[in-house]
Amino acid sequence: MLELRNVDTRYGQIPMLRQVSMKVEAGEAVCLLGANGAGKTTLLKTILGMVKPTAGEVIYNGQRIDHLPPHKIIASGIAIVPEREGLFPKLTVEDNLLFGAYYEKDKDIIKSRLEEALTIFPRLKERYHQKAGTLSGGERKMLGIARALLSGPQLLLMDEPSLGLAPATVIEVYDVIARIKAEKNITILLIEQNAQKALEVVERGYVIQKGSIILEGSTEELQENEIIKESYLAVN
Ligand SMILES: Nc1ncnc2c1ncn2[C@@H]1O[C@H](COP(=O)(O)OP(=O)(O)OP(=O)(O)O)[C@@H](O)[C@H]1O
Ligand SMILES: [Mg+2]
Repeated sequence: MLELRNVDTRYGQIPMLRQVSMKVEAGEAVCLLGANGAGKTTLLKTILGMVKPTAGEVIYNGQRIDHLPPHKIIASGIAIVPEREGLFPKLTVEDNLLFGAYYEKDKDIIKSRLEEALTIFPRLKERYHQKAGTLSGGERKMLGIARALLSGPQLLLMDEPSLGLAPATVIEVYDVIARIKAEKNITILLIEQNAQKALEVVERGYVIQKGSIILEGSTEELQENEIIKESYLAVN
């Protein structure tokens, strides 16, 4: 469904991603693990067309998308839950959710997506008319995920969903991710530093370090890997 082939990116003269190749097949949940500054968000921005590769290709459903503007890429069925949710703090939960369905014109489809999201996130139903800026960190994270689902994505990109949350809330967020994976036909690319949680829900993963993919493997292979054990599992 999604493939990066030998992608390079730069910020000005400074190289960031270096020869990054990775694949996510339809129906899979895949994680990308990496430390602060490794290039995780840059990789997501490259998929979304917000950072343009200086070499290589990004292919989605058999088509090159790296030359497309971000809104076209998002309209083609890719949704993102950004690092800092990117909500509209002065708008209500309802309006933030509806913004996720921006490209959907069919009111019945929007209504059924909304109902489904509120079943997965009952807390958002309780807070439906509350302004997003007044939600707790965990609730904002849930709203960010729910809003992404409102677009009816084929591919869901999540940038560090556990970031900044208390351990109990991380568990709640990951329960939701596991539920989305089990109940919905959505392909997931999950970006994390929290390897332990990410490896609970994915089948496969990659590790990025200083802009290069240094490791890839099945969940089991990554859990057993010494680099992962030392650098990513120990700290969490
Ligand atoms: N717009 C930019 N201009 C210049 N440098 C940038 C820009 N955006 C990111 N960088 C640099 O690129 C590197 C990778 O950043 P990126 O945000 O991709 O890291 P990350 O893996 O997502 O890290 P984190 O876990 O902290 O979110 C960092 O050194 C960062 O300072
Ligand atoms: Mg980041």
